[in-house]
Amino acid sequence: MNRQEAEKQVARLRQQIAYHNYRYHVLDSPEISDAEFDRLMRELEALEAQFSDLVTPDSPTQRVGGQPLDRFATITHTTPMLSLQNAFEEEEVREFDQRIKRFLKTDRDLPYVAEPKLDGVAVEVLYDDGAFTLGATRGDGVTGEDVTANLRTIRSLPLRLLPAGEVPVPAYLEARGEVLMLRRDFEALNQKQEAAGEKVFANPRNAAAGSLRQLDPRITAQRPLRIYFHSVGALRGTAIRTHWELLQAFKAWGLKVEPNITLCETIEQAIAYHRRLSQERERLPYEIDGVVLKLNDRALQDELGTIAKSPRWALAYKFEAKQAVTRILEIRPQVGRTGALTPVAVMEPVTLAGVTVSRATLHNQDEIDRKDVRAGDWVMVQRAGDVIPEVVEVLKERRTGTEEPYRLPDKCPECGSRVVRFEDEAVSRCVDMACPAQVRERIIHFASKRAMDIEGLGEKLVEQLVDRALIRDPADLYALTRDDFMQLERMGDKLASNLLDAIARSRRTTLPKLLFALGIRHVGETMAKLLAEHYPTLDALMPATEEELSAIHQVGPEIAKSVVAFFAQPENRRIIEKLRGHGVHYERVKAMAGRKLSGQSFIFTGGLTALSRDEAKARVEALGGKVVSSVSKTTSYVVVGEDPGSKLADARRLAVPILNEEEFLKLLE
Ligand code: IVH
Repeated sequence: MNRQEAEKQVARLRQQIAYHNYRYHVLDSPEISDAEFDRLMRELEALEAQFSDLVTPDSPTQRVGGQPLDRFATITHTTPMLSLQNAFEEEEVREFDQRIKRFLKTDRDLPYVAEPKLDGVAVEVLYDDGAFTLGATRGDGVTGEDVTANLRTIRSLPLRLLPAGEVPVPAYLEARGEVLMLRRDFEALNQKQEAAGEKVFANPRNAAAGSLRQLDPRITAQRPLRIYFHSVGALRGTAIRTHWELLQAFKAWGLKVEPNITLCETIEQAIAYHRRLSQERERLPYEIDGVVLKLNDRALQDELGTIAKSPRWALAYKFEAKQAVTRILEIRPQVGRTGALTPVAVMEPVTLAGVTVSRATLHNQDEIDRKDVRAGDWVMVQRAGDVIPEVVEVLKERRTGTEEPYRLPDKCPECGSRVVRFEDEAVSRCVDMACPAQVRERIIHFASKRAMDIEGLGEKLVEQLVDRALIRDPADLYALTRDDFMQLERMGDKLASNLLDAIARSRRTTLPKLLFALGIRHVGETMAKLLAEHYPTLDALMPATEEELSAIHQVGPEIAKSVVAFFAQPENRRIIEKLRGHGVHYERVKAMAGRKLSGQSFIFTGGLTALSRDEAKARVEALGGKVVSSVSKTTSYVVVGEDPGSKLADARRLAVPILNEEEFLKLLE
């Protein structure tokens, strides 16, 4: 190939690569396989190696390059990067809207764009004639740091803006957004860091900031950063009337925009959006700490201008904080139903996401050592979703020297038995199955809603029953009498009757619920269901060997071992017999065992030739398998037909086995 031809081919390849990069990283909907993408990249690399003068900084081959820096250069933002006024209450949001209306002398409803407030690192990215030229952190809003080389490594950042249909690519654009890390990427990064003996990050935001501020861009390139755009500094060469249109133009140019942004016709709609998002926030793949409301009309934005350091036309409507600072008064070991000793921090009460908390889990000794948590420490605690609050980090600068390091005891605090830590485990356990704390926790679990569902039998009651030696194992519940209950504190006739009824009702259950209730280690609700699908009765399951169990898809060796160990314990067999003697029984579920695909899940992507999707689904189901809609680590197979979509990439990322049509048909035979 001569130079002229090479130049043309290089341009063509770059365009294709930019487009497929956009399909993959921005739209999450690739059109070609990873292998094909790699082939395009390799061809471009080869040409650039041959004709080195064709290499340009915005070539996709140049994402990871550049030498480590001594320090970042300082950049002065041409248009200051402002901050936002905050609000926490609905009333403050209505006042914000009223203020704007007064200022604009109008009483008609004003549309706002509502966006998630992303908890990342604010950056500005410059595009000159569509080419990425410079990127900087927000810094103090006036000056920031030049992180161009690091930003270039982020795959979702286009190195060239894509020519969009209606809105021409601007002559000059200062696009502003947030660099962040997805929760799952953050978890994986921390695992990797820990394994390598490197620093772990307290939260995804810190991980994103730490990764973006690496002096060596090759390190940043290995960190799973993403970028979402939400606002603009200077914009020349394109007229855009509203913020909503701006965000649409961003998308068309290849700049990723958060998918939950919504155009609200009134402030009340914006308030409703906040309410909805605050419930969904834990389900989002990244952390957000509120909603940003922006007046949609850009001309009106200009008219309103800024006050102090914030625009009058925008508002950060925050969620209730789920992190707070408090002090640890004491660290206590707590014994669970499997004997595991969990260190728990007893803290000065503090409000987290609207709930007062005074206890946080410290997980295990390794976690205590890693975070160096001591009694008396000031700590940052957080609550995510329904999970128990946890200590995120210790505020070491607030130490006075009186804080005391903590070690879990080597004797069980409840029964005095030995506490052991098995080699391959992070947890320490009390070895005595008859330990009153274990007995109590096992029975609480047995009676819980998702297990035997004994309504009204809560922790306090179980504790009293165990303390008074009225029950020693779950089966004893079925022998309790009215007189037994009447001995308890605050017990009346009516309550005793209700409890006896609830216990009686629970005799009739299902096998999955019973299996879950027994409290076999590693057997949660889902695993209990799966086991029940393969073994229609307890009698069938009890003699199963590790080998047989591991042959079931999704049953790993650890689970198999734990099931076998459970039924090998004479005490557990005795309890099962006792339960039967008290009339505990379950309805048989239709036997799924033995069907070829039982317990297996399939996903289809792309078109099949020999049969339709519906036919394929029916065939899988007829063999006991199921067809699901999104790929996860537990998906058994992704079946790939012609023109597959993004699920193929998901499968590769999650290492889910991939079948082509032929292999799939063979499996059905
Ligand atoms: S707009 C003048 N939109 O919050 C308005 N900011 O407190 C400029 N942030 O540093 C910001 N998500 O980086 C805007 N959807 C969003 C945002 C957002 C997060 C950050 C932003 C800024 C800070 C302002």
